[in-house]
Amino acid sequence: MTPSHIGVVGSGTMGGAIAHLMALSGYDVRLSDVSQPALEQAVRRMRSWMEMNVSKGKMTQEDADGTLDRISITTELNHLADCSFVVEAVFEDLQVKEQIFSQLDQILPQAAIIATNTSSMSITLLAEYTKRPGKVVGMHFFNPPQVMKLVEVVRGYKTDNDTVAKTMDLARNLGKEPIEVKKDTPGFIVNRILIPQLLEAVRLVEEGVATPEDVDKAIRLGLNSPMGPFELQDYTGVDIGLNVVDHFYEEFRNDRWAAPLSLRALVRAGRLGRKTGAGWYDYPSDSK
Ligand code: CAA
Repeated sequence: MTPSHIGVVGSGTMGGAIAHLMALSGYDVRLSDVSQPALEQAVRRMRSWMEMNVSKGKMTQEDADGTLDRISITTELNHLADCSFVVEAVFEDLQVKEQIFSQLDQILPQAAIIATNTSSMSITLLAEYTKRPGKVVGMHFFNPPQVMKLVEVVRGYKTDNDTVAKTMDLARNLGKEPIEVKKDTPGFIVNRILIPQLLEAVRLVEEGVATPEDVDKAIRLGLNSPMGPFELQDYTGVDIGLNVVDHFYEEFRNDRWAAPLSLRALVRAGRLGRKTGAGWYDYPSDSK
């Protein structure tokens, strides 16, 4: 499938980067957000990354200009009306997603696919906000999406085979390796495995076994992982991690998924990581 236009809803870290990836791969993209400053910020991030690559000789100025020309930004979701494929990548708030899914359902052509980059929410539930549940699918990218090779293509209860096949094709056209997640389960595959590791890392620090820095060092050097669990949480956002953990707890109803108090305290204190703010390395732990 070659979608005529691809829409991306949400211009935060993931949405902006997914739109960028699509434009780099030659697609015309409409990027929508309720906030004009957030849209402009997303374009600045794309521009500065491409300027760096042009200066390193990894990309031509012509290609960088062409990529930006393929992206149009808008605060009106209605401007996505001619898109045959849309990826929703707004923050994990069910009410906001409900509103977006039902509006997209009204404005998009009948055959259009609505994909979501949610990292934990039920595809089956999101699909029920539309009258086209067969055309709703999970398309879960990893941060940074321009670099990370995997895309989880997640089947909701009613997602049809054609939608899964077209989403897998699109992921391949973006240079990714898609895998099909055959059942709609919280966290899909990667987060289902990653989150217990992150929780265990926090518990080690709470027990005073090691500092966050040393846990990270252990995982980097002992498992050859590019980042330790605390670096990774700071990189993707500590609040986003807590959101996912709380969602797992709700869904599984099992204490195994209960968020450690120090994780919640860090979020309450506004230490959210993402490089800009303080994160785990600043947590006032007894083990320091
Ligand atoms: N956007 C675009 N490209 C980026 C980038 C970004 N934000 N960050 C790094 N890159 C590119 C760089 O340009 C560089 O490209 P070249 O090799 O072509 O020059 C390459 O990535 C390597 O970058 P660096 O040399 O600057 O740094 P690094 O080698 O330390 O790699 C990293 C950075 C790719 C982020 C690496 O540390 C890494 O793989 N970390 C783990 C990331 C990870 O696990 N992500 C998954 C998070 S979980 C998730 O996303 C799911 C969820 O639901 C929350």
